[in-house]
Amino acid sequence: MTVKPIVLNDLPTDLDYLRLPNHVAVIMDGNGRWAKRRGLPRIMGHQRGVDTLKDLLRCCKDWGVPALTAYAFSTENWGRPLDEVEFLMTLFERVLRRELREMMEENVRIRFVGNLAVLPPSLQEEIARSMQDTQNNTGIDFTVATNYGGRQEIVQACQAIATQVQQGLLNPQDIDESIFEDHLYTKGIAHPDLLIRTSGEMRLSNFLLWQLAYAEIYVTQTLWPDFNREEFHQALLAYQQRERRFGKI
Ligand code: FPP
Repeated sequence: MTVKPIVLNDLPTDLDYLRLPNHVAVIMDGNGRWAKRRGLPRIMGHQRGVDTLKDLLRCCKDWGVPALTAYAFSTENWGRPLDEVEFLMTLFERVLRRELREMMEENVRIRFVGNLAVLPPSLQEEIARSMQDTQNNTGIDFTVATNYGGRQEIVQACQAIATQVQQGLLNPQDIDESIFEDHLYTKGIAHPDLLIRTSGEMRLSNFLLWQLAYAEIYVTQTLWPDFNREEFHQALLAYQQRERRFGKI
């Protein structure tokens, strides 16, 4: 008797469905360079980057990767020219408003992590609406890091825990990794197994510093707007060829 391999909506046959990462994180780098090479304003790169992200989300769904996290805006990105920052904030808002219906149809649960309280109020409203409307969706878990900084996340977790100690609600000896994680923005979200960074830089750039402790890292020279399913396929192949030891031998 021949055993039929599991084929999940076009999953490339050289990928093992049972060994796909449960959670992929992406640093979407290279939008500006992509635009510059074409003689376009940098913002056109971000605009194109949204299409890439949409297709990656769809690909995760098609191939059976249950969770995706994207780094959309770091706490350091405020240092960019004002018009670029303003464009990005408007872009996030516009995309959320435009895509909410499709996210509901596609059963996507969207969450935002980061210091959201200082974002433009109209963006905060769209974020709250999208998180609320999709919170019971059971398909892919999509997390967007916006005004996110890994160090800041760790510091605010320490502040929250210290306050509980000060109030006599928590004994310092009882603080463990699980309690710490409960105070991170990503509470309840599994750690990424694979981090993909585009455009060749070999840096974490303050992204998910705690959560990526044992993630496999895959860096491609491809600029984010050019990242496609074949690139994702290559990243997953590389991931499946790695031996994950988690500090053991
Ligand atoms: C980094 O490229 C990219 C960003 C800072 C923005 C990424 C945002 C998107 C693709 C939009 C996502 C939208 C939603 C709603 C989640 P860069 O500008 O640093 O490129 P460079 O290194 O070539 O200058």
